[in-house]
Amino acid sequence: MHLDIAVLGGDGIGPEVVAQSIKCLRSVEETFGHSFTFTKAKVGAVAIKETGEPLPEKTLEICKKSDAVLFGAIGAPEYDGNPTSKIWPEQGLLRLRKELGLFANIRPVKVFPTLIKQSPLAKSTVQHTDLVIYRELSGGIYYGEKIQDESQSSATDTCTYTESEISRISHLAFKAARARRKKVTLVDKANVLETSRLWRRVVHTIAESYPDVSLNCLFIDNAAVQMILNPSQFDVILTDNMFGDILSDQGSVIAGSIGLLPSASVGTEHAMFEPIHGSYPNAKNKNIANPVASILSTAMLLQHFKMDEESDAVVAAVLKSFSKKIVTPDIMGSSKYGTNYVGDFIADNIMELDGSFNINDENIGLGKSTII
Ligand code: IPM
Ligand code: MG
Repeated sequence: MHLDIAVLGGDGIGPEVVAQSIKCLRSVEETFGHSFTFTKAKVGAVAIKETGEPLPEKTLEICKKSDAVLFGAIGAPEYDGNPTSKIWPEQGLLRLRKELGLFANIRPVKVFPTLIKQSPLAKSTVQHTDLVIYRELSGGIYYGEKIQDESQSSATDTCTYTESEISRISHLAFKAARARRKKVTLVDKANVLETSRLWRRVVHTIAESYPDVSLNCLFIDNAAVQMILNPSQFDVILTDNMFGDILSDQGSVIAGSIGLLPSASVGTEHAMFEPIHGSYPNAKNKNIANPVASILSTAMLLQHFKMDEESDAVVAAVLKSFSKKIVTPDIMGSSKYGTNYVGDFIADNIMELDGSFNINDENIGLGKSTII
């Protein structure tokens, strides 16, 4: 298969981790006889520095022409500390998601048995975690009207959802549940927010078309607690943009490091693959960032294009790095291995599987019961 992949390293550790993903995709190319082209483009603070825009038109054009986008990370401290700035890096990512029509952000959370001690939570609590968050990605409070009062003493963010925006991601979530443990949990704040009440109405109606899937609803505050107390009760979590952002970071505590969790953002025409972590500016160019979240995002990319065997091979190589303790210091404080070494190890260990790889034990996938 041939794929044109746009590579947007972005800010902070983004370029370093994405570089490891490219190594892995090169290895997939060689092992399985595919051809991938990579076109780099700028986004975020680095793009503002160069062009004044967080998402230059040239970058958007490259992404639109590509089959997939590999995204690193976005954000820089000079903007975080300056709330009066009119332009900031994250605007680039938000616009990109909108322009590419990426309405569903799929964030699997699973515990890797070899890393179970990593989680600050008890082993007995986290050991059976295997959930996936379906986060609505192109609507809600992220995209509603934003007003900064001239006096600077009041500001407004509007949260709007339409039935069709809720419906399209809900169908994806129910379909995913069908291929997994057949359970959807809608997370909202329907005891307060009108948008959440609309979500409930729409999702309940959609649920009728999936009689084999059970639906339950939780308020976000309760869901946050339940996710830490008993994460294995969840299968597919369906939620809006803001709640999904927060819950997925919380999910990384279960897995043991935010450097482990991948994501896929999909729409009808485009798809983008990015770790859930941020730009971690303090680690930039120190060769300590964990490349696994980005590498597992490439496994999701491969699976998106129905290259299941290739995706499994990437996951198997990642698992091998865990079992051989070839990990970055966020996973094992005493580790002497850096981003590059871990990336090389994983890329070098991507090989055709002889069938002995136990796909059900620790695997990642979109819409499968084995999803992490
Ligand atoms: C994420 C990030 C982004 C978001 C930021 C960088 C805008 O936190 O992808 O989870 O809030 O969506
Ligand atoms: Mg986030």
